[in-house]
Amino acid sequence: MALYTTVMEAVTAYTGLSPAAFFTILALMWVVYKTVCGMFVDPEELNNAKKPAAAAADVSPPAVVAPAEPVQLGDVTEEDLRAYNGSDPSKPLLMAIKGQIYDVSVSRMFYGPGGPYAMFAGRDASRALALMSFDPQDLTGNIEGLSEDELEVLQDWEYKFMEKYVKVGQLVSEKAQKHNENGKEHDS
Ligand code: HEM
Repeated sequence: MALYTTVMEAVTAYTGLSPAAFFTILALMWVVYKTVCGMFVDPEELNNAKKPAAAAADVSPPAVVAPAEPVQLGDVTEEDLRAYNGSDPSKPLLMAIKGQIYDVSVSRMFYGPGGPYAMFAGRDASRALALMSFDPQDLTGNIEGLSEDELEVLQDWEYKFMEKYVKVGQLVSEKAQKHNENGKEHDS
């Protein structure tokens, strides 16, 4: 009882409040503290809450279907390449540099319909890339008359593509393609 009286006297002496007022304020502060804490989620708890979901995801199949592996096309004419410009979503997105065809499907945001570089898809864009040009006239694989600097720019693009994308074929002239087909017919 002596302890009780000492505590009450100390409360009054230190705070200038009556013990009833002091404990009422203390209780209110506790309620406010709990309410504010309840507004935030403990990161530990969040991690623990996520774990069972992640474990479940391990056993169920992934929601996102991985893009198909690039298919090798071999010899393709410029005209055939046009079909791979993104207008048919079931076909890969292809683009050629110096006659070498790359599967750029992973960069659909660049080359797909509505993308900033959609005009390059389904084309050999060598000239446009060498000249850093968006002029439709430059959308060709013809690199005649380019300066050394421009050819160097093109070379840098080619290195970038070789590193980033899978080569799936090469451009051939229509004549060469026909010749090849006839050759195959003769073989069989
Ligand atoms: C205002 C000028 C330009 C700006 C600000 C710009 C900006 C960009 C940016 C931010 C990227 C993404 C780079 C990455 O994440 O790897 C990109 C990619 C690209 N740019 Fe440009 N660009 C410009 C002009 C051009 C021009 C003139 C050409 C060619 C005619 C061009 C061709 C490309 C190509 C082909 C890619 C995609 C490369 C890949 O497949 O990784 N850009 N550009």
